[in-house]
Amino acid sequence: MNPELKKYEQIIKPLMKSKRFKHSVNVAEMCLILAKKFGGDEDKAYTAGILHDCRKEAEKTVMLEEAEKSGYYIDPAERDCAKLWHGIAAAYYVKNNLDINDRDILNAVRFHTVGRADMSLTEKIVFLSDMVSEDRDYPDVEKYRAAALEDLDNGMFQTLRWSILKTVGDGNNIPLTTLEAYNFYSRYKKGGLLP
Ligand SMILES: [Fe+2]
Ligand SMILES: [Fe+2]
Repeated sequence: MNPELKKYEQIIKPLMKSKRFKHSVNVAEMCLILAKKFGGDEDKAYTAGILHDCRKEAEKTVMLEEAEKSGYYIDPAERDCAKLWHGIAAAYYVKNNLDINDRDILNAVRFHTVGRADMSLTEKIVFLSDMVSEDRDYPDVEKYRAAALEDLDNGMFQTLRWSILKTVGDGNNIPLTTLEAYNFYSRYKKGGLLP
């Protein structure tokens, strides 16, 4: 990886509390592991990974404003759920404040919350790294981590299923893009369903 990219650690640090900073560093490290293992672009994966949550602690009104200015389509269920705004806002922020124009990095940041069908290698690496980074402690996370390390597409299926079940359990709506992602990756399921 290009060592110059370490500068993003210092850029995000003042934007968030220390717990989230540690999570961002863990996600970026997981991105490097997965990129090395599956032949992804380490620089793109690291950059999107370290920056993915850079707007999560921004003011809600600012987040929504940035999301709207991003030019990305916002799913109605995403618009109704404030905790999903930060991915779209972050894509706007890194493009306009950090001058990152690489579409793959921007998409990986934008879709890390909700996923979409037929994601690029970088997008899958960032989505999964966020789901299974070292600091994640939901039940059976080690099984999801092992699945991601073995096969990105089955990892996408298993983590999307987990995420949808949890969201439904909480009584919340599922963005269409997440359902499309789930349906797309279900063709890659293998090794049985994770708990
Ligand atoms: Fe996030
Ligand atoms: Fe995250």
